[in-house]
Amino acid sequence: MTPQERIQELRKLLNEHNHKYYVLNQPEISDQEFDRLMRELEDLEAQHPEMDDPLSPTRRVGSDINKNFQQIKHLYPMLSLANTYSVEEVDEWVQRTQGSLMGEQVTLVGEMKFDGTSISLIYEHGRLVRAVTRGDGEKGDVVTDNVKTIRSIPLELHGEGWPDRFELRGEILLPWREFDRLNAERAFNEEPLFANPRNAAAGTLKLQDPREVSRRGLDAYFYYLLAEPQDLPSDNHFDNMMAVRSWGFKVSDAMCKLETIDDVDKYINFWDTARKELPVATDGLVFKVNSLRQQLNLGYRAKSPRWAIAYKFQAERALTRLDFVSFEVGRMGIVTPVANLDPVLLSGTIVKRVSLHNEDIMRGLDVHEHDMLYVEKGGEIIPKITGVEVSQRPKDAPVIKFVSHCPACGTPLVRVEGEAAWMCPNKYGCPPQIAGRVEHFVGRRMMNIDGIGEETSELLYNHGLVTNIGELYDLTYDKLIAMDSRIGHKTAERIMQGLRDSLEVPFDRVVYALSIPFVGETVAKKLARGAHDIDTLMAMSQEQLEAIPDIGKRIAESIIDYFAQPLNRQIIERLRQAGVQMAMPEESTEGRTDKLQGKSIIISGTFAKHSRDQYKEMIERNGGKNVGSISKKTDYVLAGENMGPAKLEKATSLGIPIISEDDFLKMIE
Ligand code: IVH
Repeated sequence: MTPQERIQELRKLLNEHNHKYYVLNQPEISDQEFDRLMRELEDLEAQHPEMDDPLSPTRRVGSDINKNFQQIKHLYPMLSLANTYSVEEVDEWVQRTQGSLMGEQVTLVGEMKFDGTSISLIYEHGRLVRAVTRGDGEKGDVVTDNVKTIRSIPLELHGEGWPDRFELRGEILLPWREFDRLNAERAFNEEPLFANPRNAAAGTLKLQDPREVSRRGLDAYFYYLLAEPQDLPSDNHFDNMMAVRSWGFKVSDAMCKLETIDDVDKYINFWDTARKELPVATDGLVFKVNSLRQQLNLGYRAKSPRWAIAYKFQAERALTRLDFVSFEVGRMGIVTPVANLDPVLLSGTIVKRVSLHNEDIMRGLDVHEHDMLYVEKGGEIIPKITGVEVSQRPKDAPVIKFVSHCPACGTPLVRVEGEAAWMCPNKYGCPPQIAGRVEHFVGRRMMNIDGIGEETSELLYNHGLVTNIGELYDLTYDKLIAMDSRIGHKTAERIMQGLRDSLEVPFDRVVYALSIPFVGETVAKKLARGAHDIDTLMAMSQEQLEAIPDIGKRIAESIIDYFAQPLNRQIIERLRQAGVQMAMPEESTEGRTDKLQGKSIIISGTFAKHSRDQYKEMIERNGGKNVGSISKKTDYVLAGENMGPAKLEKATSLGIPIISEDDFLKMIE
């Protein structure tokens, strides 16, 4: 087989496995095996640039290309649906529709109303050519690169019978699991949370960095096929969607044909509760007339078709008593009002604290002391207060006012420019802010300093030992032991060791650890890469910062403001003196050898001493090449635990030496 043929074969194979994994949920090969095929394809493609194909499965990870979105007019405008809120309203619509069709038998299709962001895909000759957001319904943004990262969308179609040119509409969604993960990450970084998966999906689709999009785990379901009538596989919607499924797309299993009003009512009753088990957010059901001829007869209103209707689920709501409103100060000084409630059960979880977000929202609700409050949890996983039951308000209950001074340090609050938030400006004297920053700095994903948690950082502050992150490096074993009886020998040792180890933490994590407002983990990485070292970063102008990918005006301003503070500069100096990494590692020739010159080495399995990436780097540092698949030309297999049996057999049959990590480390010693 020529390499060209192998490339084609691998692409086909990987596309099939992608479909089995992401669409059918029935993986046939292990993740490792999949990665192996992918790496083989990557290697071959690198050697054969003439075989380049932008739709190759290797391109799913997205590229670094950064560009603003181009706008394009939709072939057919993207309409919305008329809403109904009860079984009765849906029944009326069914009867009305039948009436308009002169009493003809009407078959309906019931489907989920997915609560994501709509997308229009254009396929030509079986290949994805364009993905466009809804935009204003007339024109939308071209987001093809981002959509290509969604593994459940086929870039090349499966099966047969697809029109040469068609448009497919569907919904891009962030599954609950990914949504929870993303929000937990954002909460940790004190970045604003996404209120619901819809906002998260829409936000993600508009990111300028397809790699980040790829990381977020979007999914997509499809519900509408458009093409020249003679090119469509069938004259009815349901069969068209089944064809769409056979071409490799996700079409909801909930989609089914309904013949009578009774069927419709049962469908609504069933999904009203069953939808809670679905892996993605839904906000209702959609009923569509199945026959395309009947659809054509029924036609359109200004903004929606007459042949379809949405039924919206009721959000779950509870009424409970407000105990008190607390005002809480975060690491960045933002003061958030929180309603502390009599505990109440809502969609399976007990709710007792609900954020009121900011003064405007609190005032809009007009919350009085001990009011009865409505708490809702709809498509939103985070409960929110949607109203006050004024009829149950205690007599003469005073309205609750937003605090004017910091509840922790008493400093008058200032309004964050252009926002509804109030902030305590006493950044370096307000205990929860300082303790919060120390806690952030020592966190696992920042400097990873063992032994210091919330309690210890408060102790350190209260004893005047650590009033900023720089002072952490003034700690000594003796000072720790003397501070508080709760800190024993072991803890003190652990903290000191943690501080020493933290000197190895790479520069990008140091940038993240500084608690610069709006600089989360991803932004910190980009800054570290863009600036290379702290002196450059501190000296960068607004324009220079904004020239770094994904750094906007707000982030740039925040960085400049941070480094303009003399105390922050002092802290940086203290960290530098202590030996904290203040630059990205040099691509140095130091440590380079030619001990593995000309050797092709495969890495397989898991290792105890170093990560696979580290071994890869060691191979390259010593002049060798890390390859993806075994062939006669392979010189060694560096094998860890759980090496795949197929690989082992192949290596043995080709007589390739299998070496352990210790053997390998000896070789490069
Ligand atoms: S059909 C011409 N079907 O709801 C009709 N839309 O409120 C086109 N949506 O913009 C839409 N699930 O983003 C249709 N099963 C479904 C849907 C669905 C969600 C969204 C879609 C549309 C909005 C209309």
